[in-house]
Amino acid sequence: MKFKGKTFLVTGGAGGIGKGIVTALAKEGARVVFFDINEEKGKATEEEISKISECMFIKVNLMEKDDVVAGFQKVIDKYTTIHGLVNCAQASRNLPFMETTEKEFELAFGTGFWPTFHLMKLSYPHLKETQGSIVNFASGAGLKGMLTQTSYAAAKEAIRGISRVAANEWGPDNININIVCPIAASEGVAEWRQHNAEAYDQMVSAIPLRRLGDPEQDIGRVVSFLLSEDAKFMTGQTVMVDGGSVMLR
Ligand SMILES: NC(=O)c1ccc[n+]([C@@H]2O[C@H](COP(=O)([O-])OP(=O)(O)OC[C@H]3O[C@@H](n4cnc5c(N)ncnc54)[C@H](O)[C@@H]3O)[C@@H](O)[C@H]2O)c1
Repeated sequence: MKFKGKTFLVTGGAGGIGKGIVTALAKEGARVVFFDINEEKGKATEEEISKISECMFIKVNLMEKDDVVAGFQKVIDKYTTIHGLVNCAQASRNLPFMETTEKEFELAFGTGFWPTFHLMKLSYPHLKETQGSIVNFASGAGLKGMLTQTSYAAAKEAIRGISRVAANEWGPDNININIVCPIAASEGVAEWRQHNAEAYDQMVSAIPLRRLGDPEQDIGRVVSFLLSEDAKFMTGQTVMVDGGSVMLR
């Protein structure tokens, strides 16, 4: 119950890794608010998690800045402040470099980079007051320059870039910011597997631990650690929670 009395905001919490994070934080006693565009899944997750701890779903389209700002204001109106921010949501379309257009960049940056940037700025005064933490999500696909991930890799590496700058600038305020690069069995990966069966099998066989992570047990609990006092001397780090895929291969 290390997070009793603390409020965390998570984006993309309706399903996948985001839901795993919401679950892990709730199990540590946190109040968890999450944004997602998927109303049906959002409501179902809110109902499920509310049995563990206080939980609030706010429907937000992260592609719309006004929606992001209004959603954040709702969190502050209800809970006055936050102790941690997790930018997990991301959508993207995979295409080879030569077929990628600005439309793909709009989606990858619109769902991942821009909301991360805006929410970091909105959260800053609150996190300064609560001595809080931020966890942002990137990907081994960005680090390695994985085939067909043009816009996604760009958005994820941009997120890592601003995370490190903010970690430097906000370090004196005792706000620590880290980046997680996961591999986990989320709905997004299940959908990708349907159209990329061969690539999926290759991905699993290239993971030294030979499995995908569990959204709650493997990823959510690492995020919980990064938001806790135990990780308060860690900042600006990219934490690979990927069964060893990137660093060992
Ligand atoms: N799953 C993996 O193996 C893996 C690998 C590398 C990086 N990541 C990163 O981890 C994070 C979580 O991945 P995931 O696989 O759980 O993703 P996912 O696709 O399963 O879930 C993403 C969530 O974001 C929400 N979302 C999408 N567009 C939105 C919008 N416009 N507004 C609000 N919400 C929106 C979706 O509804 C969904 O609930 C992402 O940042 C992803 O890039 C995941």
